Amino acid sequence: MSEIDYGIDAWGHGLVTVLPNGDVGLLDPLAPDGAAVALPMIVRDLRDRGIRTPIQLRVQSFLDFGLRRLCEAFARTMESLSYRGPYRGVFPIKVNQQSEVVGRIAEVGQQYNYGLEAGSKPELIVALAQPLAREALVICNGIKDDEFIRLAILSRKIGFNTIIVLESLKEFEIVRAVSEELGIKPLLGVRVKLTQTVTGKWEASSGDRSTFGLGTFEVVQLIDRLTETGYLDCLVLQHNHLGSQVPNVIDVRRTVTEACRFFVELCRMGVPLKYLDMGGGLGIDYTGEKRSTENSVNYTVEEYCFAILETVAYAMDEAGLPHPAIVTESGRFVTALSSTLIFDILDATYYDVVDKPAADPGDHHYLTYLLAVESYLEPKRLQECYNDAAYYRDEMRALFRRGQLDLRQMARAERAFLYTLSRIAAMDREHDGPGELHDKLDQYVDHYHGNFSLFQSLPDVWAIDQIHPIVPLQRLNETPKRRAVLNDITCDSDGKIDRFVLADGLHNSLPVHDLKDDEEYYIGVFFVGAYQETLGDLHNLFGDANVVTIVLDGQGGFHVEHEVEGDRISEVLSYVEYDPQDMLGAFRKRVDKAVAVGDVSAEERRVLIGAYKDSLAGYTYFE
Ligand SMILES: Cc1ncc(COP(=O)(O)O)c(C=O)c1O
Repeated sequence: MSEIDYGIDAWGHGLVTVLPNGDVGLLDPLAPDGAAVALPMIVRDLRDRGIRTPIQLRVQSFLDFGLRRLCEAFARTMESLSYRGPYRGVFPIKVNQQSEVVGRIAEVGQQYNYGLEAGSKPELIVALAQPLAREALVICNGIKDDEFIRLAILSRKIGFNTIIVLESLKEFEIVRAVSEELGIKPLLGVRVKLTQTVTGKWEASSGDRSTFGLGTFEVVQLIDRLTETGYLDCLVLQHNHLGSQVPNVIDVRRTVTEACRFFVELCRMGVPLKYLDMGGGLGIDYTGEKRSTENSVNYTVEEYCFAILETVAYAMDEAGLPHPAIVTESGRFVTALSSTLIFDILDATYYDVVDKPAADPGDHHYLTYLLAVESYLEPKRLQECYNDAAYYRDEMRALFRRGQLDLRQMARAERAFLYTLSRIAAMDREHDGPGELHDKLDQYVDHYHGNFSLFQSLPDVWAIDQIHPIVPLQRLNETPKRRAVLNDITCDSDGKIDRFVLADGLHNSLPVHDLKDDEEYYIGVFFVGAYQETLGDLHNLFGDANVVTIVLDGQGGFHVEHEVEGDRISEVLSYVEYDPQDMLGAFRKRVDKAVAVGDVSAEERRVLIGAYKDSLAGYTYFE
């Protein structure tokens, strides 16, 4: 086995493993002791069907697993605490709006009375077309207009438990007008701003400066207005959203404690609250650290359930109130694990020079000194050797800029510098040199060029420094000799990944193997099922990747459940208002002009127009 530990046992959630032949495999959560399916084998199988990388591989078995784990953790914890209310979880559609995902969650969720959360009109339209169980909730958050509210209220007529969560006093007036016009009373919720802040990526938007919801003064105003207008009996839900990816379970306890204070007070004011909705926040351990860092969590789903339920039970018992139904709007936890982005490496730029440039009697003396640095390289002198090599290289650059060194000498100097650096880096890896040196050496790792767009498929990596576990999908029984950052296929220098999880923590480069001419080299980016699919954009007009959904059979096999072809070039062009037919017409006119003046033959005309048409129909990625 390889000497590098990618930390798969720590972050793999028992779903990802390494097979004896070095391939990364997926395990069926329903058969953890069963055989794993090798990911490179899946990719080859899909390639034979004409589906090429980049591929967003959705594993339905993992999606079901996420949902069941959440609902069953709540059920078990409720039982162990003798909690007397039900769990009524809802899936926030914005976390993954794909029809297949929402449809599957609605279907599997039926047995758990699992519902949906809609933050916009289109999302409500999606929710109302799903086969939800009778007891399931549809929770409407966000800013709502008359049309949104009308549909929400009307849906009660056909058996949906649709709750309109009020975000402002003004919103209530629209609800009242629509309700009176329709003659149907709404189910209402109120989003309360808590003062407790939570740590993690969304710390700044938590607490009383959060964008959504009502502060204490407005809550009281709303209650008075509901009483005055005869709508107090409609207010059944209190909503509090903690923020996403909450790393520390203490924050859950603190916010639930404050939420309970509001709940108890509102009940004392005569509000018939039945549901306490704690929003999202249940995090995923992306790094396997099991710590309260931004990309990890210091709790399990069971501890999360316990923190909520025990706190609520205690507060309600103390106030002599019945236990409310608990609602959570966990999106990330349900869907994140279910998708993996797989892409191939197209090419590499190597900074790791293995062959020492031979000394030449005509060399500039700085180059001679540079080549000599290796002779006094030893673990104690790593930093000194680096400083010397950088000094000689920089002096030669200055000479080159002043016209005192020719291009060949300069090229040999750059090569000698990279060679010396590779020797220093190798010794540094073995003997763990000083931290500052690590940072310098990290700037010279190889660049592996991947067939993907960061902006389309991993927008959070770019926007909020989200860490996803990333590993080569093959040859993990072979020690990787190189370190690389991953560049995407866009022409944007931000399109790169340079933070990676290994067993011993975060690194600025990924251990990778030498590329072989006759072998594809695949990289997997794990746990990209939450937020990434629709937040992505069309930077450089790279469109959606191919999406394939598979089901694992627990015995080392799988079947393809569903495939959605990625965007064709003509599709992405039409997203930005081009008409591919008009474009073809314009191109054809230009070719015809060239034919008319004799620059292009009839045969060349056929080839030119054929190439343009084929490109319009092609995949936006490297084929
Ligand atoms: C109101 C609301 N509910 C639920 C969620 C989902 O949160 P998470 O993905 O952390 O479960 C969000 C996302 O931020 C949200 O804004």
